[in-house]
Amino acid sequence: MKVQVYKNYDEVSKAAAKIFAETVKGKENAVLGLATGSTPVGMYTELAKMYEAGEISFKNTKSFNLDEYVGIALSHPESYHSFMEKNLFSKIDIVKENTHVPYAEIETAEADCAAYDKAVQEAGGVDIQVLGIGGNGHIAFNEPDSEFPENTHIAVLDSRTIDDNARFFNSRDEVPTKAITVGMGVIMQAEKIIILATGENKADAVKKMVEGAIVPSVPASILRVHRNVTVLVDEAAASKLNK
Ligand code: PGA
Repeated sequence: MKVQVYKNYDEVSKAAAKIFAETVKGKENAVLGLATGSTPVGMYTELAKMYEAGEISFKNTKSFNLDEYVGIALSHPESYHSFMEKNLFSKIDIVKENTHVPYAEIETAEADCAAYDKAVQEAGGVDIQVLGIGGNGHIAFNEPDSEFPENTHIAVLDSRTIDDNARFFNSRDEVPTKAITVGMGVIMQAEKIIILATGENKADAVKKMVEGAIVPSVPASILRVHRNVTVLVDEAAASKLNK
């Protein structure tokens, strides 16, 4: 696991976009693993600028997102389908049919989850995966638990996650309590992973991921056994790391 510290959010976003763009340029039909949350927004803006400038094209890429709330209308402005449309897909030349954001209904959850894992496998797996990290150390909606879940599944959101995500909704009560999320299988099989974290409120999670024990109570810690992970952090998120 390589750790790169940058001055601020903008620098992290630019560095992440540069790494991501290398994969897009280097492999015409690259499979992109995408994340939502506030952290990758700057990176998506940078990628859209590169597309506008004619530096990269997403025409032949496929994308797979990590997760989506269960029980939210896809047209809801805070659904991850809406998020991706607004922050990336509408700004680049990716073909709509090649984008995948998971979706599950409680009644058909088992089949919905299995179908998503199958679709990722059939696409040949992910070439580059971007991740954020939760304040509780989660990646995607793999919350602190007693084991690392392998497959796509329905997760019950941790109360810290609900607190953290309440800022996107009118009230805490409106935050969905369940989500469909990829497990560690899709993430750990990615060729290359970049994980971004900025701000003081991520400093504890970053320290545990980078320096703590590899335990399912800190889901991101498993990334240390992956062969190609780069952690991109700003000074605030890096502030608790041993120098
Ligand atoms: P954030 O979320 O980017 O909105 O901080 C990250 C995450 O929960 O994975």
